[in-house]
Amino acid sequence: MNQHGSSGVITIDGPGGAGKGTISLAVANRLGWDYLDSGALYRVLGLAAARKQIALDNELLLVEEAASLGVSFGTGRSGLGVEVLLDGEDVTSSIRTETAGDAASKVAALPAVRAALLQRQRDFEQPPGVVADGRDMGTTVFPGAALKIFLTASAEERAKRRYKQLIEKGDDANIRALKSEIEERDRRDSERSTSPLRPAEDAVMLDTTEMDIESVITAVMGLATERGLMVR
Ligand code: C5P
Repeated sequence: MNQHGSSGVITIDGPGGAGKGTISLAVANRLGWDYLDSGALYRVLGLAAARKQIALDNELLLVEEAASLGVSFGTGRSGLGVEVLLDGEDVTSSIRTETAGDAASKVAALPAVRAALLQRQRDFEQPPGVVADGRDMGTTVFPGAALKIFLTASAEERAKRRYKQLIEKGDDANIRALKSEIEERDRRDSERSTSPLRPAEDAVMLDTTEMDIESVITAVMGLATERGLMVR
């Protein structure tokens, strides 16, 4: 419990590659809270659709798939964050490819799909609290969150970070192609009609272009302390 005696919610929204996953997981660990990687839900749905050969614009079938999606999060920590399981199979690395990210952003643009995944996300609000990472955590999923952060970084910096990650994994990567993919995904996420990527009115904006991970974590933990979210 936090000092208000209820479960706390911290939302961390922003464009892809701004560091939301790393920061959210670190903050959740330091607070002893749960972590919701909402993007993983859309990624798993994209993967399940591809396996069942459901077209990424077939809203009807995708909604059915979303409603019965056998997704769960493991407690073990892989190098990629929390383990993600689809019907018990570890899909943590298969959902992290650029293709899976692209599929996720296509299924995520469908309003009925978002609606079908809403309650599943809200169920993560359990004592002592949850750090929720996504695009619409502060605006739609947890509008009453105690602390809302909007993390940004320039598209160039985000492409550089992604490039580094891919090279470290031993994958091929092209920084210019990555930057244009990132910009395309930002555009699709910002222009969709339902829950577009935008900061909540009461979000704290944090531009991480010039910041290292540890200083971003320190900044978020400082805000959490200010709001009384540290006392358990
Ligand atoms: O955060 P991540 O890159 O894993 O998200 C993959 C895609 O899922 C995003 O590009 C976005 O289109 C979608 N998404 C979303 N709403 C969220 C989280 C992710 O629309 N809350």
